[in-house]
Amino acid sequence: MSFTDRHVVLGVSGGIACYKSCTLARRLTEAGATVDVVLTAAAAEFVRPLTFEALTGRPVLTSLWEPGRALAHIDLAKDPDLVIVAPATGNILARAAMGMADDLLTALLLARADRLVLAAPAMNDAMYANPATTANIKTLTARGWHFVGPEIGALAEGPSERPGRMSEPETILAAAERLLGKPPQGNPKSKWSGKRVVVTAGPTREHLDPVRVLTNPSSGRMGYALAEAASSRGANVVLVTGPTELAPPPGLATKHVETTEEMQRAVQALVKDADALIMSAAPADYRPTQLADKKRPRANGPLTVELEATPDILTSLERPKRMVVVGFALETGNGLAKARSKMQNKALDFVILNDALEPGAGFEVTTNRVTILGRNGKQVDLPLLPKRDVAERILDVVEEAL
Ligand SMILES: Cc1cc2nc3c(=O)[nH]c(=O)nc-3n(C[C@H](O)[C@H](O)[C@H](O)COP(=O)(O)O)c2cc1C
Repeated sequence: MSFTDRHVVLGVSGGIACYKSCTLARRLTEAGATVDVVLTAAAAEFVRPLTFEALTGRPVLTSLWEPGRALAHIDLAKDPDLVIVAPATGNILARAAMGMADDLLTALLLARADRLVLAAPAMNDAMYANPATTANIKTLTARGWHFVGPEIGALAEGPSERPGRMSEPETILAAAERLLGKPPQGNPKSKWSGKRVVVTAGPTREHLDPVRVLTNPSSGRMGYALAEAASSRGANVVLVTGPTELAPPPGLATKHVETTEEMQRAVQALVKDADALIMSAAPADYRPTQLADKKRPRANGPLTVELEATPDILTSLERPKRMVVVGFALETGNGLAKARSKMQNKALDFVILNDALEPGAGFEVTTNRVTILGRNGKQVDLPLLPKRDVAERILDVVEEAL
């Protein structure tokens, strides 16, 4: 990761995640960036300016009224390659969306219209879910801001199943690096630009006992490829993934889950304000009715385990009406008919059919051969391609519906 010769402003607003911004400031500096840190008054209550000064080797600004820096808000808006706001509190998002300029950070954000801004929201899950915050993020996205996260996970007040936690510094860095590799506003012509997209990937696992699981050989590659492709088209992607061998794609918010029920909860929490949901995971359809809390001993005779159906993620989902939903159908024969009925029964806009028995397609391989079926009767048969190319072709078709 290199930020050599890059000038970055790190705007820090007053959330508990300020402590992670110290690491972010350090990593940016180590990667070669010149980092100017601007703290809001609330941020300075969490971390002293001196900490950032020591980490970046540069003076830290906290006020519009700093002697000798009369036009800092204009210089810091114009000069830097990127402004990162991390953490971005609910309050700073509201102030920026309103176009307020009542402190140094908001003044520089107002003066920075049309230039790159990357924000990493972090707040209590209810604050994030509040329609006011959703509207503010939409407004800022429409003005060209980019967002990374928030993620699901522990908040200061305890564990949460809903987004609110700031992305890790490495994830923010990777998002910053990707942005700096792009033309200033991403590709504004891409229909994916600024869209919130949830992608599921990989298998899920259902435990029989603490050491044995029911699962399937899904590698997660198709879902990861779709998430990366959507992200590189400018979408704000959250990847919900079951256990895989793959490294989380840089610059994407990633939520790790194990069971189908966990995946269902994560997807339900994320789709509320999503523009598209791409369900490429292969969740386990059954789980044992009883989870043994100790390892089941080996017995000589057969073992009978009673299974029950896991929640069906797509049919149980409360989803926004305008959200485009893409499902996958992995079949082993008579695929077209089964895929069409899946599209109907699960109210999908598109279904991607692949055949588990076809060489080079389906699980565990780096290629796939799929047929894309649309609710409007569209059918696109793709040749055998690397999964990343398949992902691009799927996005080309799905974007018509965005
Ligand atoms: C202990 C504590 C933790 C807070 N954490 C957050 C947070 O994570 N996210 C957030 O949006 N606000 C948080 N707040 C509230 C903000 O600090 C408050 O809205 C403040 O006005 C933000 O100002 P700023 O956006 O100018 O930095 C927290 C407040 C306290 C006292």
